[in-house]
Amino acid sequence: MKRKTAILISGRGSNMTALIEAARSDDYPAEIALVVSNRPNAAGLRTARRHGIPARAIDHKEFETREAFEAEVTGALEAAGVDLICLAGFMRILTESFVKHWQDRLINIHPSLLPAFKGVDTHARALAAGVKIAGCTVHFVRAAMDSGPIIMQAAVRVLPGDSAETLAARVLEAEHRVYPAALALVASGRARAVGELVFIDAPAREAPPLYSPPVD
Ligand code: GRF
Repeated sequence: MKRKTAILISGRGSNMTALIEAARSDDYPAEIALVVSNRPNAAGLRTARRHGIPARAIDHKEFETREAFEAEVTGALEAAGVDLICLAGFMRILTESFVKHWQDRLINIHPSLLPAFKGVDTHARALAAGVKIAGCTVHFVRAAMDSGPIIMQAAVRVLPGDSAETLAARVLEAEHRVYPAALALVASGRARAVGELVFIDAPAREAPPLYSPPVD
């Protein structure tokens, strides 16, 4: 039985597309049942529909409070039978009560090796700090921004002459591999949050918590 999963987006939705494509396989443990965007003109909404996935805009600007917006989102998700949420470039801060309601059923991808470089302008800050290894992290969401039990990370080399854009593009390729792999672990019940850590019930070679290209 596939876990019914929703993806929340705000923009182009390339991670969403990677998840939709992975979920097409018969043996993938999650089914993408609904895509929701808080921005009605998000390109990802059109992409989702092209893939035959129900996609709905819920414009946060039409709600007086964050809570009212989130109640509408939760209502739409529960009406679609969703019990797992992937945030994929969703640019709204979520309230503690929404995060609690979906505790350990809400995952996010962030384009850094957390806990480093939380928040926006991640790549520019990583370059300014002179790090040699960048990457991305899939984690269960907690109320504090870009925090929560880490499910999987990918390391990506920083190359001489990288700009924030070239580094972002290289990290994004890793995001597209790591997010479907992490969702598969969660949806199949093999990755479980226990307190603030994630335990993975699978042999390391089948479900490595780190995807890393060789550093030569
Ligand atoms: C990704 O880099 C993701 O890690 C971050 O926002 C970006 C969204 O890109 N949270 P896309 O919409 O998935 O293409």
